[in-house]
Amino acid sequence: MTAWSNPLRDKRDKRMPRIPGPCGVVIFGVTGDLATKKLMPAIYDLANRGLLPANFALVGFARRDWVDEDFGKLVCDSVRKHARTPYRQEVWDRLAEGIRFVQGTFDDPKAFERLTETLQKLDSERGTGGNHAFYLSIPPKAFQQVCEQLQKSGLARPQDGRWSRVVIEKPFGHDLASARELNGVVNSVFPEESVFRIDHYLGKETVQNILALRFANELYEPIWNNNYVDSVQITMAEDIGLGGRGGYYDGVGAARDVIQNHLIQLLALTAMEEPVSFSPHELQAEKIKVLSAIRLMQPLDDTTARGQYAAGWQGSEKVTGLLDEEGFSKESTTETYAAITLEIDTRRWAGVPFFLRTGKRLGRRVTEIALIFKRAPHLPFDKTMTEELGQNALVIRVQPDEGITTRFGSKVPGSAMEVRDVNMDFSYGSAFAEDSPEAYERLILDMLLGEPSLFPTNAEVELSWEILDPVLGDWASHGKPDAYESGTWGPASADEMMHRMGREWRRP
Ligand code: BG6
Repeated sequence: MTAWSNPLRDKRDKRMPRIPGPCGVVIFGVTGDLATKKLMPAIYDLANRGLLPANFALVGFARRDWVDEDFGKLVCDSVRKHARTPYRQEVWDRLAEGIRFVQGTFDDPKAFERLTETLQKLDSERGTGGNHAFYLSIPPKAFQQVCEQLQKSGLARPQDGRWSRVVIEKPFGHDLASARELNGVVNSVFPEESVFRIDHYLGKETVQNILALRFANELYEPIWNNNYVDSVQITMAEDIGLGGRGGYYDGVGAARDVIQNHLIQLLALTAMEEPVSFSPHELQAEKIKVLSAIRLMQPLDDTTARGQYAAGWQGSEKVTGLLDEEGFSKESTTETYAAITLEIDTRRWAGVPFFLRTGKRLGRRVTEIALIFKRAPHLPFDKTMTEELGQNALVIRVQPDEGITTRFGSKVPGSAMEVRDVNMDFSYGSAFAEDSPEAYERLILDMLLGEPSLFPTNAEVELSWEILDPVLGDWASHGKPDAYESGTWGPASADEMMHRMGREWRRP
């Protein structure tokens, strides 16, 4: 019997950590926040967990007049400050041996020649095998230039048997037209199977668990439809403001920053049909199917809301409004709160509104998906006994306090048949001994393995913009968003929107 057909071995292999083959990662934009807070620490964490190949190299490309050691120090500082796993000298020393720096600007062909030489040298000295990932942690306006330089230097299309991948971070465009243009630029250099678009929410354990919850159990899927579900609320609330991020955020706003990507992806996983298998192709096919069936509930004036945070209190700290933050003009119409209502034209979901909302400087940081169930068709209790009975709910707590809660009615102890809402809780912290890896660890590992399941495709990105574009157009013609006090749950117009729909926002 050959090794691959041995069922015992196959079973064991699925649980064995997968380690990529020899390769090098080049990061463009190494001095940015994302690289120092997330990317470099995640690479170290992978090394620390034994998930990187021995033949691995990390190359930084930036304008600064640095040598390898300066870049090494930046990586080391960022690892010590932000890595999830403990600092171990021997792991760092091994990683540091493969760290290089290339100085240059994106418009300088000579810099890309130096990059090519550096990578060739690493291939021969460290055995990185001619396999390279190019991580564009840079503003999208520079994508085209970098892709073209990579193409001209021959780095984008390696010889047979080697791979070259490009990793891009959102925003994937500003609207549908610009997303198409961007995809066109990237795809003219890298074939689609070599493009890895990061939506870091898909790297979160709790988000991957949506599929396990739905498709590994018999308990939930039979009621996961419009016979039982009244509505779905997907919330990503943050308590932080935008101080220091004006350059990126002004003119972008909450809908483009979060709804177009993270929340629509959460919606797709919540609403899609069961895939034939978890192969990337089948999974993406189901996501695309459901995304194609989504439409905005009309009229938009009644079914959407947007706001901008004003001064207020965040806990015990007094905070300023957006218009007083550095990087925002007093006239800025950028929304920091956005809520939209979607419908899905499928047999499963017809008639069920999906409410998506996100905002900065809200009451607290929480991301959750809540399925709110219909009320029981008949309550055989005295009316006064069910006054504190709400609607049943299943809440997937994406973060923090990761887990799942079921809310249902229970008899209050005593002689009366009084029924009140109670919660039943699953929490990752108490159910599992292992800590969840950071989203970027999982995504960088998958990208190096060439495993595309957790990366939105070109088609998914364009469909999300198609959904959102009409709202953005509508809002652009409406002037300023409504102000809301920092530390509250958004503008009054968002509550009014829900009241019009005969529902209420959850207060997580
Ligand atoms: C990013 C957004 O994609 O996600 C930020 O650009 C937001 O505005 C961040 O703060 C939130 O990520 P997380 O993982 O902390 O929920």
